[in-house]
Amino acid sequence: MIKVVLLGAGNVATHLFNAFDEAKNISIEQVFSRKESSLTSFEKKTAVTTSLENLKEADVYILAVKDDAVKNVIEKIQYKNGLIVHTSGSVPLLKSAKNNGVFYPLQTFSKNTAVDFSKIPLCIEADIDENLALLHQLANSISNSVYEISSEQRKSLHLSAVFVCNFVNHLYSIGEDLCQENKVPFEILHPLILETARKASVNSPASVQTGPAVRNDQKTIDFHLAQLNKADYSKIYTLLTDSIQQKNG
Ligand SMILES: NC(=O)c1ccc[n+]([C@@H]2O[C@H](COP(=O)([O-])OP(=O)(O)OC[C@H]3O[C@@H](n4cnc5c(N)ncnc54)[C@H](OP(=O)(O)O)[C@@H]3O)[C@@H](O)[C@H]2O)c1
Repeated sequence: MIKVVLLGAGNVATHLFNAFDEAKNISIEQVFSRKESSLTSFEKKTAVTTSLENLKEADVYILAVKDDAVKNVIEKIQYKNGLIVHTSGSVPLLKSAKNNGVFYPLQTFSKNTAVDFSKIPLCIEADIDENLALLHQLANSISNSVYEISSEQRKSLHLSAVFVCNFVNHLYSIGEDLCQENKVPFEILHPLILETARKASVNSPASVQTGPAVRNDQKTIDFHLAQLNKADYSKIYTLLTDSIQQKNG
């Protein structure tokens, strides 16, 4: 049985809790959060605390706190003997701390949107082989997709994720605005969104690029730019058009 203490009560902590709760070989010993009010959904199932000085014994302490707080929390719980890991894509392995690692789930999590953890890639890293072996065991208990990824690799993976997830989602949101302005239901675009994502995941995305930019259909591009009435949307359109054209010669 692997004993786990979860630190944080937000999006990632909630989904990790649910996944660990279903795994037969993992016992969630405690959940920590600064605010008592954040712990109400956990306290019926396990022990909870608002004090970092009051953590129970565990094999692994998993920090699912905001990136800026990771270093500080790791330093405060150095009195514990277990392995301490964080779940951030952008924070490197903390070399100064003992028994330190990373348990980064490469997915977008919102508290109230269910996920199938078995399909979520888990990127693990640890200071020593023994800790890495423990993380393999923990990760394999909830996911079928486990990768050893170094801090250096994780930096570029996180940057890629910002492009393929956060930026793409912002573009969806612009698409939704344009639909709303013209009283077109955004759902009409759902099959296009899904097919674009499907194609990009079974091909090199550059090889399946379509649209006026890659065709160099200048009249259509000018027509689109004339329709955009927000300066930042026009800038994004021009920047992406130029980038597509440069990439495709
Ligand atoms: N959401 C995602 O899609 C995603 C995906 C992969 C990895 N991650 C990583 O997972 C971690 C958590 O992200 P999240 O989306 O779960 O964030 P979140 O929902 O905003 O939750 C953040 C948690 O951090 C706690 N916190 C904030 N400042 C703190 C401090 N100074 N000391 C202790 N706890 C503090 C918050 O507690 P309070 O309520 O007390 O403020 C809250 O429980 C981050 O490192 C993030 O990069 C997120």
